[in-house]
Amino acid sequence: MKHDQLIDFRSDTLTKPSTQMRQVMANAEVGDDVYGEDPTVNRLEQKVAALLGKEAAILCSSGTQSNLLGILSQCQRGEEYIVGAPYHTYKYEAGGAAVLGGVVPHTVPLSDDGGVDAQALRAAIKADDPHFPISRLISLENTHLGRVVPQQRMLDARKVADEFGLCLHLDGARLANAAVASGESMATLAAPFDTVSLCCSKGLGAPVGSLLAGSHEVIHKARRWRKMLGGGMRQAGVLAAAIDYALDQQMQRLDEDHAHAQRLALGIIGLPGMRVAESATNMLYLHFDRTEDAAKVSALAKAQGILVPAQADMRLVTHIDIDNMMIERAVNVLNSILADVLAKPEVPVTN
Ligand SMILES: Cc1ncc(COP(=O)(O)O)c(C=O)c1O
Repeated sequence: MKHDQLIDFRSDTLTKPSTQMRQVMANAEVGDDVYGEDPTVNRLEQKVAALLGKEAAILCSSGTQSNLLGILSQCQRGEEYIVGAPYHTYKYEAGGAAVLGGVVPHTVPLSDDGGVDAQALRAAIKADDPHFPISRLISLENTHLGRVVPQQRMLDARKVADEFGLCLHLDGARLANAAVASGESMATLAAPFDTVSLCCSKGLGAPVGSLLAGSHEVIHKARRWRKMLGGGMRQAGVLAAAIDYALDQQMQRLDEDHAHAQRLALGIIGLPGMRVAESATNMLYLHFDRTEDAAKVSALAKAQGILVPAQADMRLVTHIDIDNMMIERAVNVLNSILADVLAKPEVPVTN
């Protein structure tokens, strides 16, 4: 590793395709996927459906799109989806389900383990009353902030969904990380859900693409929504080939990213003014008492080629483009910067 090489902890979406991945993309057999004639896309959709234990899957441009298709394909206008308040499908997807589908979100608080308690779900489900939207779907997430949500939460949510006739969707943007960390298969983790969104451009390291998996009927509806949203991608086999490669060659190595996050957690010394919180997967959080300190750490780290966000809840994400030596360098540099910044609290001005 060159010392002037950037170490970018801002996200696992920043990874670049390797030479080998680019090679399989260049050699991909392609056709027009809107005609259903791209053999590489067709094979990938079948493969991911099998990996997630579902009947069918559809390749989407992004996790936002696959989550949106999951909701729109199972809810009508005037219906609602119940969702953990900090989950991505509510907080970070521009309100797409409400804007485009007239589907109302109802947010519920999370339990300490990052899941949603069955009681909170029950309390959110509406009676059949003309004042209320019709409760139709529950949307959960795994991993959440790098934590693997206990599977019992998902099984409990399934029970509630069955009791009230609701659908259950999983934002499994990082389900591959959850599977590798827990030692369970993705199919086992996906089993309680009607639909599952799996992102391949995060820890898996493909350049583009997420898949939505579910029943033939739901995926058929999702295909119409995807077309309407401008997501019919024609010769998408070049992308499907990269995803296929990522699933075969880059999934099991996620445990390296998890070990790197743990190494960072062990190596970074907790100091007054900040707290280190590790997850079981590829994320580590440095919680600063003061945003100004986080901003200083971010600026000083950048000057040494290490990119971390300037936020009080500073998320460091490990991924395929960060190796052992980079982790060791990051531990040293960050410790020295943190010691410096946190040793010099600003003296409050008094009159
Ligand atoms: C938990 C989670 N779900 C969904 C998404 C959306 O993925 P995309 O950025 O591909 O739209 C993200 C993106 O970071 C995410 O972290």
